[in-house]
Amino acid sequence: MFTGKGGVGKTTCAAATALHHASSGDTLTISTDATPSLSHIFETADEQKPAQVLPSLYINELGEQEIKEMWDEKFGREVHEVFSAFVSIDYEEFVDFMTSVLPGLGEEFMVDYIRELSRKDLYENIVWDTAPLGQTLTLLQTPALLGNHLRMAPRIYSRLKLGRRSREPVLDILKRWEELSADNMIFLRNEVNFTMVTIPEALAVEQLEGIFRELHKYGLTVKQLIINNVVKTRDSDFLLTRASQQQAYLEHIYEKYSDLKIVELPMFPYELKGLDRLREVEKVLFP
Ligand SMILES: Nc1ncnc2c1ncn2[C@@H]1O[C@H](COP(=O)(O)OP(=O)(O)OP(=O)(O)O)[C@@H](O)[C@H]1O
Ligand SMILES: [Mg+2]
Repeated sequence: MFTGKGGVGKTTCAAATALHHASSGDTLTISTDATPSLSHIFETADEQKPAQVLPSLYINELGEQEIKEMWDEKFGREVHEVFSAFVSIDYEEFVDFMTSVLPGLGEEFMVDYIRELSRKDLYENIVWDTAPLGQTLTLLQTPALLGNHLRMAPRIYSRLKLGRRSREPVLDILKRWEELSADNMIFLRNEVNFTMVTIPEALAVEQLEGIFRELHKYGLTVKQLIINNVVKTRDSDFLLTRASQQQAYLEHIYEKYSDLKIVELPMFPYELKGLDRLREVEKVLFP
């Protein structure tokens, strides 16, 4: 899983990593970012889901629609039945409401989807490109938040008069949901390798500490840190100035995160788009 603040190169690094792993087995790059960027970076026109980029490389960009389908499949009907006992609401409207209002419901199902995918063993590797950080953090908090909500829920729901329905099935549904939540957290903890992407600039470096703290709170550890956009050539005043500005931030990162595997990705003079360019990134990330 690639995480980090907006625009630091998560998708670029995720794509190059997927390209690398595709040479040793079927690899899926999955994106939980609402804006489709994987198809753009891989320059693929295949509109299937998942889309095939190379014989062993696939991409899948998950959006609102998929989340709704997941919710629908796992809980939608049951929970709707419970709710419709006291509120008159159409199923479609209810699903829209639930997926937009409940904190992190969408993200929870994203994690769940990826967990199920990894269980099915369809792919040797799954590379997970996330949305800019704000969303990633909600994503990580969701299972815990939902867990808290659910601990309260039985008390609330048990007071509702559900007409003909006994309250037992409702509690069963909630319990199943809570278990799902816990399983997702365990999955994130034990089976997902986190790679943090950053750039040697003030704001990005400042934010790093907070992100690490947040991840740590949930028992999640980052194994690798990629410092992107590092200026390596100094043959103009412009580059010299940029490089010397980056120096202090680089030193700070190396000092502070000495326990991590740190990889520097140079700033390229061109946009990193298409397989040939991604191969260049791959060479740096996997020397
Ligand atoms: N090392 C680099 N050298 C030159 N350009 C780069 C480098 N890394 C990334 N870019 C360019 O910067 C832009 C943003 O990169 P990318 O889309 O990978 O970032 P992101 O972290 O995924 O962004 P978002 O948070 O919006 O998802 C892209 O146009 C990409 O080509
Ligand atoms: Mg991206």
